[in-house]
Amino acid sequence: MLQGKKIVVGITGGIAAYKIPLLVRLLKKEGAEVKVVMTDFSKSFVTPLTLATVSGEPVYSEFFNPENGLWHSHVDLGLWADAMILAPLTANTMAKMASGVADNFLLTVILSARCPVFFAPTMDMDMFQHPVTQENIRKLIKLGYHYVPPSEGFLASGLDGPGRMSEPEELAQVLNEYFSGDEVLQGKKVLISAGPTHEPFDAVRFIGNRSSGKMGIALAKAFAQKGALVHLVLGPVSFDVSFPGITVYPVETAAEMADQCKKIFTEADVAIMAAAVADFTPVHTSESKIKKEGGFHSIEVKATEDILASLGKSKRKDQLLIGFALETDNEFQNAQKKLEKKNLDMIVLNSLKDSGAGFGTDTNKVTILNRNGDHYTFDLKSKEAVATDIISEIKALMEEIS
Ligand code: CTP
Repeated sequence: MLQGKKIVVGITGGIAAYKIPLLVRLLKKEGAEVKVVMTDFSKSFVTPLTLATVSGEPVYSEFFNPENGLWHSHVDLGLWADAMILAPLTANTMAKMASGVADNFLLTVILSARCPVFFAPTMDMDMFQHPVTQENIRKLIKLGYHYVPPSEGFLASGLDGPGRMSEPEELAQVLNEYFSGDEVLQGKKVLISAGPTHEPFDAVRFIGNRSSGKMGIALAKAFAQKGALVHLVLGPVSFDVSFPGITVYPVETAAEMADQCKKIFTEADVAIMAAAVADFTPVHTSESKIKKEGGFHSIEVKATEDILASLGKSKRKDQLLIGFALETDNEFQNAQKKLEKKNLDMIVLNSLKDSGAGFGTDTNKVTILNRNGDHYTFDLKSKEAVATDIISEIKALMEEIS
């Protein structure tokens, strides 16, 4: 599974560092190319010479090559990698990662990485159980890092409990599982629209809707975690989305969203329009705030561009286009009609009649209809789990066209 995969192994100063040459050998045996980055402290536990020998590559830990004074580019390494694994990862480096500190070469590579980053914390039991450590782990998971929990067992401190690094075979297995079956998504360019749009009619007021953007963002994260390059065109939402593998294009209006989506679509392999685009926009917009004294009775509106339909018109045979349908009545028939009319490959139907589905919730209940006439109804799930179901269906369609 790891044949041809480029993997950066980051080592920090924990006793388990002595096991990493074996991990590097296992990854190489599976056909991966491996580059090792070490912190200075980790060299007390395992030598760079051992790691350079087993990886067949120079080991990186300085910004400059001490022999020829040439610059080691952390950005190049971050872009080179298909995956990065940090093992063992100390509480110290983890805390720095969680707050964006970049005071050594390894941390700058981590910050530059666009690929999935796996982290295997290892430390003494009490340090591991400390609320700050636990908070940092949660923070990294939320930011999209992949957590490889430590196992329980005898620790170097003499304590017995959680904090032990997983064995090299288990770490290699985590990478294997990650890449298995997802080859079809590796490096694929995926365009996703999410969130509402705001259509202003004066300096402070707009027409909008209650979309939180959560479903589209969950999809974007799930695709990025599987190695796709995600371009997220995001309407105004109340939270920040920074996640490895996702480039965010913030927009406000339907017209801005349409422009951005059309630009990205020409290069995209898959496009999913999950945004709740306002269907109408005011004909006139006042630069200043409209005062009530003058009287204000109506807003004249015109239709916005249907972005999904426009993309459907220019779609090539090697591209997949997926839409959403939010319905209250005749749900299935209306979704089927949208699938055909907008030239889609798949449509994800949410019914506002289902409780827990639709705007602002953390859960969703969907039916997926595809161009082959198949349809699948799923249970109420978290938006993250729904994203996984949607991606499985998209992968099946990608295999059909590849
Ligand atoms: N959509 C879009 N541009 C618009 C309106 C909708 O790209 N101006 C996309 C949405 O992102 C979604 C799909 O079209 O993927 C369907 O949106 P929905 O609001 O359910 O349907 P509409 O086509 O707008 O029709 P109606 O509101 O009449 O049901």
